Amino acid sequence: MGEETTTATIQESDVSDETLSNLLHEERHFDPPAELAKNANVTADAYAEADRDRLAFWGKQAERISWAQPFDEVLDWSNPPFAKWFVGGRLNAAYNCVDRHVEAGNGDRVAYHWVGEPEGDTRDITYADLKDQVSQAANALTELGVQTGDRVAIYMPMIPETVVAMLACARIGAPHTVVFGGFSSTALSDRIQDCDARVVITADGGYRRGAASALKPAVDEALQKCPDVRNVLVVKRTGQDVEWTEGRDLWWDDVVGRQSVEHAPEAFDAEHPLYVMYTSGTTGKPKGILHTTGGYLVGTSYTHWSVFDLKDDDVFWTAADIGWVTGHSYIVYGPLANGATSVMYEGTPDTPHKGRWWDIVEQYKVTLLYCAPTAIRTFMKWGSEIPAKADLSSLRILGSVGEPINPEAYMWYRETIGGGRCPVVDTWWQTETGQLMISPLPGVTSGKPGSAMKALPGISAVVVDDDGKPVEPGSGGYLTLTEPWPAMLRTIWGDDERYRDTYWSRFKGLYFAGDGAKLDEDGDIWLLGRVDDVMNVSGHRLSTTEIESALVSHPKVAEAAVVGAKDADTGQAVCAFVILREAAGDGGDDIVKELRDHVANEIGKIARPRQIMVVPELPKTRSGKIMRRLLRDVAENREVGDVTTLADSTVMDLISDNLKSGSADED
Ligand code: PRX
Repeated sequence: MGEETTTATIQESDVSDETLSNLLHEERHFDPPAELAKNANVTADAYAEADRDRLAFWGKQAERISWAQPFDEVLDWSNPPFAKWFVGGRLNAAYNCVDRHVEAGNGDRVAYHWVGEPEGDTRDITYADLKDQVSQAANALTELGVQTGDRVAIYMPMIPETVVAMLACARIGAPHTVVFGGFSSTALSDRIQDCDARVVITADGGYRRGAASALKPAVDEALQKCPDVRNVLVVKRTGQDVEWTEGRDLWWDDVVGRQSVEHAPEAFDAEHPLYVMYTSGTTGKPKGILHTTGGYLVGTSYTHWSVFDLKDDDVFWTAADIGWVTGHSYIVYGPLANGATSVMYEGTPDTPHKGRWWDIVEQYKVTLLYCAPTAIRTFMKWGSEIPAKADLSSLRILGSVGEPINPEAYMWYRETIGGGRCPVVDTWWQTETGQLMISPLPGVTSGKPGSAMKALPGISAVVVDDDGKPVEPGSGGYLTLTEPWPAMLRTIWGDDERYRDTYWSRFKGLYFAGDGAKLDEDGDIWLLGRVDDVMNVSGHRLSTTEIESALVSHPKVAEAAVVGAKDADTGQAVCAFVILREAAGDGGDDIVKELRDHVANEIGKIARPRQIMVVPELPKTRSGKIMRRLLRDVAENREVGDVTTLADSTVMDLISDNLKSGSADED
């Protein structure tokens, strides 16, 4: 590609009194492939249509959903920030995700190509299969006394029964709260208590990294603090030994297996709670984000169809865990509402070898792949020769979610995985937003490496300054949403006040997402990371994302995390932690100087890290986000704080050991 040089320059005007300095400049861009543009589900007209009448636009998208009773009003926003979408409408989420496809004659269509981690352990589940299983599970929950409105906690591996359990809850109007299977018993008991769940669905274990990994012991431990839980339904996945509490614990196969496959879905109000998903707050206990039924299904199904340009013969793969919102919206509700065929994979990407994902893409001829930048950077670290062994020619669109994607990771994804022919859609959204919010449309928008581009049709995102005024193109600020959207959170479970304070109080009348962003000269949006991660160096606010992207653009670097540490001279100083690519070995004697100079060249001296530490791993949450708080502890020589939400809690030990053994460099 001829135009592939990153021109990263510092602009004098940018480091003045702007809200967030706008330092990196990226000039590459890629137009939509002509064929894709010609046949795209959505054309540029959608933006104009939504601008003309946003509510009419969403009213039209709601036709994707089958309503048992039509709605009278698209939106009731008379009591902000408490929205009601599709007022008066009634529907059943499970009916929309399953039954109606069977009724339409598509019962034989595969809903999931499920791939267990042990090789050869696969199952194809059709929509007809799913309908039977969901009906049985719904009957079982009813038998266990679960009623409409009761909460059910789900703590499961990535197996088909997890989807069945979620849909069975939705079918009887019992909101589920899925707790990620990698979380500890304390995280589980906190969540069960917060939403007062009385039934827990779990499994003996699941497969991760080549071994059976137990889940049931964490449930047993958690329930010591949750006396109100009366039943635990246990799926047998691994066959490992489990402790058993008679009367409380029940095998899924025993209870679900004997139920009728007939179950009449009841229609619930559009605003009936669908699920609560917990997400960490900056302080205090996790927030239970409440999503409701009608708006959520409209928002997720429309965005899945439009952003991934979903066609009948597509094979869609969200390579994320069901335990976080990406899994809820784009493994379960969006794709199923659209009657799509998805891949669902249980295990880790390096089991039994580092090419596992690419074998799956080849075997199932995956056309649409959706994953997180952290995975992409890991694959970059492992080397391009691994995906090169598989046939990836079925792929047509690649998606990214969860963090800003560094331009070099975007390019690698586009070239190495997408063969240079697949558009990359960098999708910005949150647990709170429920649906994709800012993203290119693959048949309409030119992609720029590192930019999520524009708010989707019907969504209104504005970057504002400290006073809540929109910034000019070329400037940075805070990302806000100015209008309600269908899949928006309705509140924080049991805490309306916290909902208002957290999201709606920083800027009057605006939803504040907590992210920094900049507009480029074309008005396209670049995410700059969480504002709590912003550094202030000699009075200039620098974004962690831009410096990390500069580091990742160095050929020896696979991943980087940047934090601000207290500094006597500059207030805060930039400290960087980097993982080298495998091919770079230990990086050589001058690696630290080389990288510091590289950042100075790419961005400017102000961003040159004071300290660079080469580390084997970075502390991440299970959804792949770097926990900068812990790195700040290291950079400021403090004892490392709470590590309970880390995907791998030994990582911090690895980092400290590594630093002690001398690979830390400071000058
Ligand atoms: O900081 C943004 C980042 O992830 C946050 C939301 O995290 P969570 O609720 O866990 O949901 C993740 C999956 C939707 C956002 O506030 N984020 C998410 N997508 C992007 C992103 N940052 C930059 N670019 C993205 N595409």
